[in-house]
Amino acid sequence: MTNKVRVILFGVGAIGSLIAKFVLEKKGLEVVGAVDVAKDKAGKDLGEVLEVGKPLGVTVTDDPDALFSKVKADIVIHATTSYLKDVYPQIAKCVKAGINVVSTCEELSYPYYKHPELANEIDELAKKHGVTVLGAGINPGYLMDTLPITLTGPCQEVKTIKVTRMMDSSKRRIPYQKKIGTGLSPEEFKRMIEEKRITGHVGLIESIAMIADALGWELEEIQELPPEPVIAEEEIVTSHTTVKTGQVAGLKSVAHGIKEAKNVITLEFVSHAALKEEYDAVSIEGVPNIYEKIEGGVHGDIGTVATIINAIPKVINANPGLVTMKDLPLPSATPEDMRIYINWRES
Ligand SMILES: NC(=O)c1ccc[n+]([C@@H]2O[C@H](COP(=O)([O-])OP(=O)(O)OC[C@H]3O[C@@H](n4cnc5c(N)ncnc54)[C@H](OP(=O)(O)O)[C@@H]3O)[C@@H](O)[C@H]2O)c1
Repeated sequence: MTNKVRVILFGVGAIGSLIAKFVLEKKGLEVVGAVDVAKDKAGKDLGEVLEVGKPLGVTVTDDPDALFSKVKADIVIHATTSYLKDVYPQIAKCVKAGINVVSTCEELSYPYYKHPELANEIDELAKKHGVTVLGAGINPGYLMDTLPITLTGPCQEVKTIKVTRMMDSSKRRIPYQKKIGTGLSPEEFKRMIEEKRITGHVGLIESIAMIADALGWELEEIQELPPEPVIAEEEIVTSHTTVKTGQVAGLKSVAHGIKEAKNVITLEFVSHAALKEEYDAVSIEGVPNIYEKIEGGVHGDIGTVATIINAIPKVINANPGLVTMKDLPLPSATPEDMRIYINWRES
């Protein structure tokens, strides 16, 4: 068999660490470098950062240029922050070093609507350097865009699409709980959202734009309503979280895609501690009508790790440029040695 797929981890925070641990377990992948600027990570052995009980011989560096000048890799798994303007310079460095990128950056999942110029720059840069760049993850990246797009496959007509994600946030990583305002007072929540000190859920706009693009719908507008806090009616204590009565337990975010003055795409994202019924549902009004519900929902962190890892061969196999999940072959798991899924191009 060919050499293992060489992976550089760019961002080994909460989700990057979960991804890293899965990469270490996965046949056919090897970690050849790690980047993170956090003071408690840079300069340490990756094994120490991941708390896996042994050194891995890979030092986490805060200097990606120095790393890229020494180490060759097939793909960067990028997991730092959510906004494209912030991550653009990081992605550009990877691309200029001739390395493919799969990133959890929400705005990269479908950047053409909010950031068409940056999207074009990434696309041109990636083509110039012969690599592929993808923004992926569970949401955006799968549950509220790729999955509903796929479910329209047997429809002769599509009138409206509604996707609902109901998720118990207390099962998720701590940075996630913080970004949806867990434990804040309602006033703090409002202020921190307005001041952009917490992001809430990022990605509904990208998901709507991706669905519309797949269906060839020209939307008049994508309207994202301000996130509403969900307030704890009694104290919530779980292994990960304590939320006092009256504090914010999470949020509800809704966005609409509007065509011919009608809401043709509605995404509803509800995530708070102690949410009773978790599920992911897609409802398509069309010919035929389609209703699909994943009882219990998909665990966001497990799903993110999987969607990112499963995207690796599709990204390496793809033509150079910026791609989105809707441009790649059908998403699928990679339960076997990663090398069997890859068609190495002649170089
Ligand atoms: N699409 C999806 O479905 C999906 C799913 C999960 C997560 N995400 C997104 O993925 C991102 C990472 O999530 P997380 O929970 O792992 O966040 P996190 O715990 O804050 O980890 C991010 C790590 O990246 C580091 N970092 C920040 N800027 C950097 C830079 N310029 N160069 C190198 N390292 C940098 C951070 O260091 P500091 O702490 O010092 O800043 C931190 O160690 C977030 O934006 C999250 O919203 C998306």
